[in-house]
Amino acid sequence: MYDHGFLYGDGIFEGIRAYSGNVFKLREHIDRLYSSAKATMLDIPLTKKEMINAVVEALRKNELYEDSYIRLVVSRGEGDLGLDPRKCTKSKVIIITDEIKLHGREAKEKGLTAIISWVKRDPVDATSHEIKSLNYLNSILAKLEANNAQVDEAICLNKEGFVCEGVAENIFTVTNDLVVTPPTSTGALRGITRQVAIDIAKALGYVVAKKGVTPADLFLADEVFFTGTAAEIVPVVEINKRKIGDGRPGPVTRKLMEKYRQLVKDPAHGTSVR
Ligand SMILES: Cc1ncc(COP(=O)(O)O)c(C=O)c1O
Repeated sequence: MYDHGFLYGDGIFEGIRAYSGNVFKLREHIDRLYSSAKATMLDIPLTKKEMINAVVEALRKNELYEDSYIRLVVSRGEGDLGLDPRKCTKSKVIIITDEIKLHGREAKEKGLTAIISWVKRDPVDATSHEIKSLNYLNSILAKLEANNAQVDEAICLNKEGFVCEGVAENIFTVTNDLVVTPPTSTGALRGITRQVAIDIAKALGYVVAKKGVTPADLFLADEVFFTGTAAEIVPVVEINKRKIGDGRPGPVTRKLMEKYRQLVKDPAHGTSVR
């Protein structure tokens, strides 16, 4: 009960997915977990290799040999009721495995609706989402606004008014075949799916730029899509009641989704459960 992950959100996490027994980009997720630990001065009591083995072992024990979702949580551990992390002498590792799906087939086919929320992304000199910490109230407040507006997702701007990311997704625009995603200096997470989408887009011959995106850039884009481990690559077809393009998933997004579906099962991009 006195775990500071619970009391103060003092901890870090990763969301990971396995497809047909291939834990997609497991090494990259583990690397990011240890980066989050470094930035928050949190000691993880396992080496990276031990952590990889522990994830695979958890999937085997739960007999999840096909598709699954893995949530890795490392909390600061038990302390007292004060927030001083020095009181927490042993961090805690929790591995959850499940069969979660965020956006179903319908969302992929029709695309999502979204609003730009009034909740600004936490600044990079505060609880920045560049670090994947247990502090997600910023995203939760934005998600509440999406729910209130009866749309699927919320888009967060940063304090300067530039587009940052979704609540748990990175965002891309496609305009005249130029693929753009905001830089992480806006406060966005360095998404693993974001990097995969960039690599796929480049391999398909598109020019990709990491540069500032304004709300008007979103409204006027031919296509907008989100990327994320849970969301995968998913089209956004309406933002603040403006149709994006013709209001249907665009051809570039669909091509990327198709390639992504192939890649997630590729053993060269993952770790086998078997
Ligand atoms: C705030 C935030 N942005 C972006 C992402 C997408 O990152 P990834 O593709 O690594 O899952 C996530 C999900 O993990 C997130 O929580």
